[in-house]
Amino acid sequence: MDIDVWVRRSVDDGPDAPTPVIDPAKLAAEVARCTRCDLHRERTQTVFGIGNLSADLLIIGEAPGAEEDRLGEPFVGRAGKLLNSMLRAIGLTREQVYIANILKCRPPGNRDPSPEEVANCASYLARQVDIIRPRMILAVGRIAAQNLLHRTTPIGKMRGQRYTYGDPEIPVIVTYHPAYLLRSPREKRKAWADLLLVKELIEEPIL
Ligand code: URA
Repeated sequence: MDIDVWVRRSVDDGPDAPTPVIDPAKLAAEVARCTRCDLHRERTQTVFGIGNLSADLLIIGEAPGAEEDRLGEPFVGRAGKLLNSMLRAIGLTREQVYIANILKCRPPGNRDPSPEEVANCASYLARQVDIIRPRMILAVGRIAAQNLLHRTTPIGKMRGQRYTYGDPEIPVIVTYHPAYLLRSPREKRKAWADLLLVKELIEEPIL
């Protein structure tokens, strides 16, 4: 690993070990050079993530699509516009949150990510979470939710529940992917309920 400032705390480090310090620019540069899987062959560029590195809310999607691959930014297509509106509905702007994906490269033809691709990218996302340390995570869509939470539960059963990710545990809420909501606008009612849960958790006082 070529991130010199990255120190992951291990059992051997003891209680006084330094807290991990990760340089986001170095992590982004490492991602940009990544050749861990074949997705690097067809990408225009990697899509690292965007937003406020001190955000309370981290949104995690699936993988870049064609527009994201072209522009290097997550959720910039039609689904992204709907995501922006969903955020606005609970009083948040795109700039206030952080947005990332399970995969940093576009799968050709927007196919589902393979388990190997997800495994190869997982440490990048874990380190992004360590940098941001959000108060909560919103996983949008089945692929994001199942891979983040290591479950095969259908998304309809995951939404409305509270899960956790990582150590220390960060609360995770699951909702439908905005691309799915564009195809199935009737489900927006359920997504709205999920967003209200997000708002409630974010606004909970820190004790
Ligand atoms: N869908 C996703 O899950 N992520 C993106 O960045 C764009 C579309």
